Amino acid sequence: MSNLVIVGTQWGDEGKGKIVDLLASSADAVVRFQGGHNAGHTLVINKKTFKLSLLPSGIVRQKLSIIGNGVVVDPIHLEKEIRNITSQGIDVNSSNFVISSDCFLILPIHKYIDGLRESQKKGSNKIGTTGRGIGPAYEDKVSRRGIRFSDFKNLKELEEKFISIYNHYNAWIEKFEGKVISYQNDFEIILKCYQNLSKYMDNTWLLLKQLNDKKSKILFEGAQGFYLDLDHGTYPYVTSSNTVAANASIGSGVNPNQLKKILGITKAYTTRVGNGPFPTEQNNDIGEKLGKIGNEFGTVTGRKRRCGWLDILMLKKAITISGINGLVLTKLDVLDFFKDIKICTSYKINNQIFQDYPSDVSYNQNIIPIYETLEGWEQETKGITNFEELPLNAQSFVKRIQFLVNCNIDIVSTGPERDENIILNEVFN
Ligand code: GDP
Ligand code: IMO
Ligand code: MG
Repeated sequence: MSNLVIVGTQWGDEGKGKIVDLLASSADAVVRFQGGHNAGHTLVINKKTFKLSLLPSGIVRQKLSIIGNGVVVDPIHLEKEIRNITSQGIDVNSSNFVISSDCFLILPIHKYIDGLRESQKKGSNKIGTTGRGIGPAYEDKVSRRGIRFSDFKNLKELEEKFISIYNHYNAWIEKFEGKVISYQNDFEIILKCYQNLSKYMDNTWLLLKQLNDKKSKILFEGAQGFYLDLDHGTYPYVTSSNTVAANASIGSGVNPNQLKKILGITKAYTTRVGNGPFPTEQNNDIGEKLGKIGNEFGTVTGRKRRCGWLDILMLKKAITISGINGLVLTKLDVLDFFKDIKICTSYKINNQIFQDYPSDVSYNQNIIPIYETLEGWEQETKGITNFEELPLNAQSFVKRIQFLVNCNIDIVSTGPERDENIILNEVFN
């Protein structure tokens, strides 16, 4: 059994896309199982940059790329993304790309409502969503009014579903904006998209069963990160799907016995886009420096990412709940320029010390992070592929994290390029 699940352990943007691309070389298929085009992954291959949001990152290596049932799909965006990647020389066809016909759709009105809701909220009440309609689309799924690709079999019933969704939201839009949005135009646009995309649709749980029966190697590509998980993250400042590894099963139809290796991707420091608690945030020169060297700007929205030190409490919870049995430490090279490097090992809240992540980390709570300070290495590590070639202080940093979280670090990433990695253990063979 050699299936592999890749998940983020922080607030997203840990470098999952780069690692999925690296390990996809050994995969027969790459599967997305949650989220939508709120994800943004940047891959750098021989100085050429690829940006993916909805297409599984395996597509760049022309691996069988599957969008599982747990993903919410904006068909307008998907068409655009296929066009963009095709213009970069990557072929997307019905042999290498498959979408589950059980996927729920993101409609234009979902995007509109996402924006309108955020604009209604004030200050720190804003979630800071990507504005792509993810929340409203999942909301419709849960409330059992959502539309799936399989609904296009019966156009009359489909139209009724559109009317019901537009009526539902129009009651609210009318109240705030004194207007309503007509469904007809959107219905026609989405219908046209469906006609173009239907060639990619299939029964993906069965396809995955067939792949498993053949002992194929399947890589499950998580989007977002552990602390954006709807149940386990920093609610309400989360996304609307479960980002934990267990969702690889639900969101694809592969049973949990088939998921053995769970790889957690961890940035050597921490970043967050959007609002919400961030105990180790460095709202100062250090945060600015991390952001500048790490080029911490969102792939999807271009927003500046908030930056801070690595948080061991966060990692330990993510490892426990996701069942992570190997870590990838990314962006080590960003720390090359720091004299001192901090790692948060406990929190002090109301004079009480916490070594495990507390149950109710809220936005305005006074959490005092307690740090261990490690001596920096102040030498270039970019592109190093051999652990022994790392400066001794960088080696100590990696080993210290491994010790504190009690989990192997299997790969250290030392740059954005595909081959800028130190492979400590083979994880996908
Ligand atoms: P994802 O959403 O988890 O796939 O991550 P993003 O692609 O949104 O953000 C990670 C960014 O860091 C991308 O621009 C990557 O090219 C870049 N990156 C990944 N690994 C490394 C690394 O080890 N060093 C540096 N300097 N950049 C990296
Ligand atoms: P990748 O896969 C970082 C954040 C948004 C916002 C919150 C809710 O690139 O790591 P949503 O639009 O999902 O309703 O927004 O979640 N968010 C991400 N932050 N990386 C992502 O994906 C994210 N996807 C959503 O910024 O705070
Ligand atoms: Mg990203």
